[in-house]
Amino acid sequence: MSDNVKPVFKPNKEFAKTARIKNMCEYQALQDYAMEDYEGFWGSYAKEKLSWIKPFTNVMDESNFPFVKWFEGGKLNVSAQCIDRHLDSRKNKAAIIFEGDRGDKQIVTYLELYYNVNRFANLLKNEFGVKKGDRVIIYMPMILESAYAMLACARIGAIHSIVFGGFSADALRDRIKDADAKVVITADGAFRKDKPYMLKPVVDEALSGKTPVEKVLVVERNGEDVTWVAGRDYSYNELIKHQPTKCDPEVMDAEDPLFLLYTSGSTGKPKGVQHNSAGYILWAQMTMEWVFDVKENDTYWCTADVGWITGHTYIVYGPLAMGATTVMFEGVPTYPDAGRPWKMVEEYKINQFYTAPTAIRVLHKMGENEPAKYDLSSLKVLGTVGEPIDPPAWKWYYEAVGGSRCAIVDTYWQTETGGHIVSPLPGATPIKPACATFPLPGIMAEILDPKTGKKAEVGEGGYMCVTRPWPAMIRGIWGDEKRFVKSYFGDVKKDGKPVYFTGDGANYDEDGYITITGRTDDVINVSGHRMGTAEVEAAIKKHPNVAEVAVVGKPHEIKGEGIFAYVVLKSDTGVADELEEIKAINRVIQKEIGNIALCDDVVFAPGLPKTRSGKIMRRILRSIARGEAITQDISTLEDPTVVAKIEKMVRG
Ligand code: WTA
Repeated sequence: MSDNVKPVFKPNKEFAKTARIKNMCEYQALQDYAMEDYEGFWGSYAKEKLSWIKPFTNVMDESNFPFVKWFEGGKLNVSAQCIDRHLDSRKNKAAIIFEGDRGDKQIVTYLELYYNVNRFANLLKNEFGVKKGDRVIIYMPMILESAYAMLACARIGAIHSIVFGGFSADALRDRIKDADAKVVITADGAFRKDKPYMLKPVVDEALSGKTPVEKVLVVERNGEDVTWVAGRDYSYNELIKHQPTKCDPEVMDAEDPLFLLYTSGSTGKPKGVQHNSAGYILWAQMTMEWVFDVKENDTYWCTADVGWITGHTYIVYGPLAMGATTVMFEGVPTYPDAGRPWKMVEEYKINQFYTAPTAIRVLHKMGENEPAKYDLSSLKVLGTVGEPIDPPAWKWYYEAVGGSRCAIVDTYWQTETGGHIVSPLPGATPIKPACATFPLPGIMAEILDPKTGKKAEVGEGGYMCVTRPWPAMIRGIWGDEKRFVKSYFGDVKKDGKPVYFTGDGANYDEDGYITITGRTDDVINVSGHRMGTAEVEAAIKKHPNVAEVAVVGKPHEIKGEGIFAYVVLKSDTGVADELEEIKAINRVIQKEIGNIALCDDVVFAPGLPKTRSGKIMRRILRSIARGEAITQDISTLEDPTVVAKIEKMVRG
């Protein structure tokens, strides 16, 4: 297989025989059903898949678009959906298989999960007074208690907001304040590469000023010493002992919020993406079933972190809603060596494995021949998510890991879509390397020409949009209605009506396959993590020597994209020690955001290319960073000579 042409790989015939969607005719029939009777399609799945406490009376109300409502009148509880309803038939089935960084293992059955979540829910309710609608911040490592915490919040109707453990105290504080949360759930820390690392001190720092937080619950994981603030900090391990194992699930409205998850946009501070109960859990379950085609006795593993949307939908909510066995892993995939994931696949007989292109590239680079050392014959479906995957990584994943036998589902989606929106179906879709292929049934995803709002022509490229609301669609940005409308429904119109725009560019090939080409806005995708250039710039500006800064993305061999910063310093006497200055800039980023936003390249520029009205011409800076020719007209710049100066500094 060459790296340049895109060959087609048909689904494995044996696999297709028992797949939920067996061929493209079945796919097309579902898509036609949804096109012809959109509400009938979604209404029938919502009835079949969800356990309603009270049935819904209306499938969808879009009269106040983009503020839409799904399954109005319906009552349910998402934690009961993920646990209680499996107790009749699956009480002794493994719900979660946990493996720690150091190889420690724990298997939790659905009945044990029920007890643990009920006790956790009682703790939050009875000891901390958490009520329906309260916001709870979860700042946790990848341990079982993170899943219990999420489900416990869902059980009592509290809205959780998980903050990724790699974020700094400042970033954590911003999210706590924005969500107006009164409780933080954290751990002393956890283990990484056989060494303890800490989380609780970050929480202490985040809460050092004035915040709405009244109580902090601390789970013991690594046993390291932590500081306790009397009256604020409580030990989970102590309090949980006394909690009853039954806590009735709160009766929730279909549209009651389930969680917030902060994500980066192209402007301003991170936004609290809101997902609501019924629509989100319905799509989480349906996509688990269709895209991974998990069977009753399968073992499924998604390597994401619960701090990101993939960890929400495809480690916890989706797998548990369908009654699957989901693996949770605390460690890093390359420790103690780059054979770790394959060792785990062999050991647990993993059937579906879901990871990010960054991880695939690292595992390929560090352990090209590692997969051959293990028995990977249990694998049926391989997934990728988070960024465009490059053909060489795809090829290695397909051949070395999947034995040229497994479908690769290149799942395209985002925090705001709740679940996959464009993806191959493993038993039906002939796949092409690095191609997200087709919209899932029920999802009206189209590539539109942003100017005309018409469907993009083959090879032309356009904006990836969704033209009708779907059940798991973002319901709002916490506390900012205007930003919600402006961020997603302002840029593209179809037939004169605004449609949901993802922020990504994409194109159709001659067979109608969709390839995602990447963000069209000022968002950089670093190792599959979204970073707003505005956010990184705001952090760098906090450095007292910095006068101006512009940040762009630059292709990176492992991370997909790296962060490239052009910094103009205040004094024009030059930089005394460049390396020291770069370190100082990265320290500010570490404090403001966290290690994930550190710069790969910093150039101390004499000035920035600006239009006469003062707008920074990022496209020029992007071209220079990427080593591409500058095609823009620079004659209209305020100071055209600055471009040549910067080019010389970067290109030498
Ligand atoms: C990118 C992660 C190409 C895209 C689930 C999107 C992808 C952003 C793919 C969302 C894919 C995600 N191919 N690009 N299969 N999947 N992306 O919110 O730019 O962390 O907008 O959600 O990741 O990132 P988020």
